[in-house]
Amino acid sequence: MIPMVTKRAITVLLYVTVLQTVKGFPLHTSDRWIVNESGKRVKLACVNWVSHLDTVVAEGLNQQPLDMISKRIKSMGFNCVRLTWPLLLLTNHSLASLTVRNSFQNLALLQSIDALQAINPSMIDLPLIKAYQEVVKRLGENDVMVILDNHVTEPGWCCSNMDGNGFFGDQYFDPDLWIIGLTNMATLFKGVTNVVGMSLRNELRGPKQDVNQWYRYMPKGAEAVHAANPEVLVILSGLNFDTDLSFIKEEALKLSFNGKLVLEVHWYSFSEGKAWTSRNANQVCGEVTENQMRRAGFLLDQGLPLFVSEFGLDLRGSDANDNRYLNCFMAFAAQLDLDWALWTLGGSYYIRNGVVGMNEYYGILNSDWSEVRNPSFLQRISAIQIPFQGPGLSEAKPFKVIFHPLTGFCIIRKTLVEALRLGPCSNSDGWEYTDQNILSIKGTYFCLQAEGEGKQAKIGNICLAPNSRWEMISDSKMHLSTQINNSSGVCLDVDNNNIIVTNTCKCLSKDNTCEPASQWFKLVDSTRNN
Ligand SMILES: *[C@@H]1O[C@H](CO)[C@@H](O)[C@H](O)[C@H]1NC(C)=O
Ligand SMILES: *[C@@H]1O[C@H](CO)[C@@H](O)[C@H](O)[C@H]1NC(C)=O
Ligand SMILES: *[C@@H]1O[C@H](CO)[C@@H](O)[C@H](O)[C@H]1NC(C)=O
Ligand SMILES: *[C@@H]1O[C@H](CO)[C@@H](O)[C@H](O)[C@H]1NC(C)=O
Repeated sequence: MIPMVTKRAITVLLYVTVLQTVKGFPLHTSDRWIVNESGKRVKLACVNWVSHLDTVVAEGLNQQPLDMISKRIKSMGFNCVRLTWPLLLLTNHSLASLTVRNSFQNLALLQSIDALQAINPSMIDLPLIKAYQEVVKRLGENDVMVILDNHVTEPGWCCSNMDGNGFFGDQYFDPDLWIIGLTNMATLFKGVTNVVGMSLRNELRGPKQDVNQWYRYMPKGAEAVHAANPEVLVILSGLNFDTDLSFIKEEALKLSFNGKLVLEVHWYSFSEGKAWTSRNANQVCGEVTENQMRRAGFLLDQGLPLFVSEFGLDLRGSDANDNRYLNCFMAFAAQLDLDWALWTLGGSYYIRNGVVGMNEYYGILNSDWSEVRNPSFLQRISAIQIPFQGPGLSEAKPFKVIFHPLTGFCIIRKTLVEALRLGPCSNSDGWEYTDQNILSIKGTYFCLQAEGEGKQAKIGNICLAPNSRWEMISDSKMHLSTQINNSSGVCLDVDNNNIIVTNTCKCLSKDNTCEPASQWFKLVDSTRNN
């Protein structure tokens, strides 16, 4: 169900990306937004790059040159990397000073050594800590920001409830050592301008997790980082694998500094088990969206930025549970215009859980890191790589774009006579959604109208009839439905050529086998200059 990407769409995306070049560090926060020195919004559109596994080397350097990977990240439209690290890299001198070669030798990864030596010869004999710094530096040279993410203590794949890395006081999670590691890391990158933030600890979890202990330790970590390096954003994880920040509603965080705090949350399909396929997709999306608002989304209203620092899915596209989740996620991320980081960059690992060369199907790149695994997915998320709104974006009054999460496109009107169709959101008209549920083109009397089941939707200028009133129905509230001559309602939809039509409303309840997403639309606030 993933439509083909067009060359033109990719070109549009790259063009826009170049214009988004970010300067003006350090970043700080202003209300719910992350902004640069001039107070203009900088939207974090990041990808996670794993560097915390057994080798403690950023993955993929046996596949492609560091510079090429860095340039690829930029050309895919990401402006930032969440670069993971294990605590011991900054607290254990013998680990930090081990060379890349020795680290691979210790794991008997001899083939990777040969490949890494051939492809990244300047990296192979660097100590691990220098190799990490080199990755950050090269990203900076390519205009990519970095968030340093303390993922675990001991190098290795993360995370489970019982892995001893989950919460303060666990076997491998000594709070004092953690403070030392954070301080060392913050100090090491002081003055490195493309390091814009630090994620203090990934996915707090496990039997010891506790709100009171969270309030005891997280501010300590935040203060330590800020004291060592006041330029970085301080990013804090919630409980339950970073799915729950609801406790902040009850008790605000007390910190000695302002304008640097960001909260992070993770959202995957498996957070809901197999609910996406075992139940009706509208109902699940409605419920889960509500939960997300209660557990994390509410922070925006409290004036705190929310960074979805992990989301992702099997990019082979064959996991129905994942695909339904993504449709819902895309609507959420677009509507709230969130900062985010995709999990993950690489299509394979040196070694993960003992498996050499393990494939990563969540990776935006393929197994040999040479190509984008799924170009239509990249096209889709390009819609949320660019901010819709925020300080300094434009002087325009907010309007709506009609976003289609399944494709990442928006409804586009070229001329009054051409059919309405999907196209890049950056080409979208501004729409207004009135109290009478009329969807009119900003500043005009022209409005969206239904002509009948199976027919193209049209633009008209007599907007009082029922077929110009659009209600957001179903549990997902993403069906735009109207009446035609008092017959049963029809819903906005797209045909195989991405032309906007109206059809019988799909999957409104109960049915778990049908896919509603072609009929899902979200009215997203925007002030983008068109
Ligand atoms: C802040 O960001 C805006 C938008 O990306 C950019 O135009 C501006 O140059 C940046 N400010 C500084 C001081 O670099
Ligand atoms: C420090 O790192 C070395 C090299 O990886 C390792 O052998 C040692 O066990 C580590 N020490 C601690 C306390 O983790
Ligand atoms: C509504 O019904 C009238 C009279 O039957 C018909 O002329 C008209 O085309 C119908 N309109 C739509 C939008 O189906
Ligand atoms: C639609 O229904 C309303 C109330 O049920 C009725 O007053 C009106 O005449 C109907 N219109 C058409 C075109 O059937």
